[in-house]
Amino acid sequence: MLLKIHNIYAGYDGGDVLKGIDLTVEKATTTCIVGPNGAGKSTVLRVLSGLLKPRLGEITFDGHSLIGLAPRQILALGIVQVPQNHSLFPSMTVRENVRLGAYMLNDSALVARRLGEVEEMFPIVKTRANDKAGNLSGGQQRLVEFARCLMLDPRMILLDEPSMGLDPRTFKQVIETIKVMQSSGRTIVLVEQNARTGLSLADNGVVLESGRVRLEGTHTEILNNPEIGHLYLGGTLSKA
Ligand SMILES: Nc1ncnc2c1ncn2[C@@H]1O[C@H](COP(=O)(O)OP(=O)(O)OP(=O)(O)O)[C@@H](O)[C@H]1O
Ligand SMILES: [Mg+2]
Repeated sequence: MLLKIHNIYAGYDGGDVLKGIDLTVEKATTTCIVGPNGAGKSTVLRVLSGLLKPRLGEITFDGHSLIGLAPRQILALGIVQVPQNHSLFPSMTVRENVRLGAYMLNDSALVARRLGEVEEMFPIVKTRANDKAGNLSGGQQRLVEFARCLMLDPRMILLDEPSMGLDPRTFKQVIETIKVMQSSGRTIVLVEQNARTGLSLADNGVVLESGRVRLEGTHTEILNNPEIGHLYLGGTLSKA
């Protein structure tokens, strides 16, 4: 197992949002977390990236405990997050934003090489390199955020609702990008409001409800679960 989460309790001022979460993620797999608004999906990712300290519980990544580590240290272990809300610096250029993804690398030749790789994967990083990020559409910004997260050549990528609010074309590009990341052996934890799309992309699914894991299994098990199908997948059962 690359990632093990055991009995995590975490929350904000109002009390625990996560109430005893257990979750395991194998290397080179994609896990999709689904569940209603407010279930705690983003909170799980925030705990993983170190932005929120759990009150109780254990998290290990490749044998290292993540408990007590600062976000920067977690990043250095190779865990990157693309947050749910847009996160580029709007008045900086596209290239500056992408380069920021590699701010902890001191090797400028390596940074240049990675920049070349992400430009190839995301042409917009090159074609709009000198434009202010704030002038890009929401979908274009999402692609630049993906590019930025790949600058560190991460081992695990946390994607929080990557398809939210995208036009159909960018939506497709985002899905294709996730597939490319999967085929290059990356480990992905994905939160997706479009549960059917997210689960179809994933190896495993986790249904979160009120801060607890209600169901976990392979993507087919989740998609075929009648109750879940009814609650979160639009009321029809999958034929997957
Ligand atoms: N910064 C915060 N301060 C206080 N409460 C918060 C904060 N962020 C989230 N919460 C609360 O924690 C609960 C879980 O939020 P979270 O964002 O993890 O849900 P989610 O499953 O990602 O929902 P959504 O589908 O709407 O993104 C919600 O009740 C939310 O109001
Ligand atoms: Mg969320």
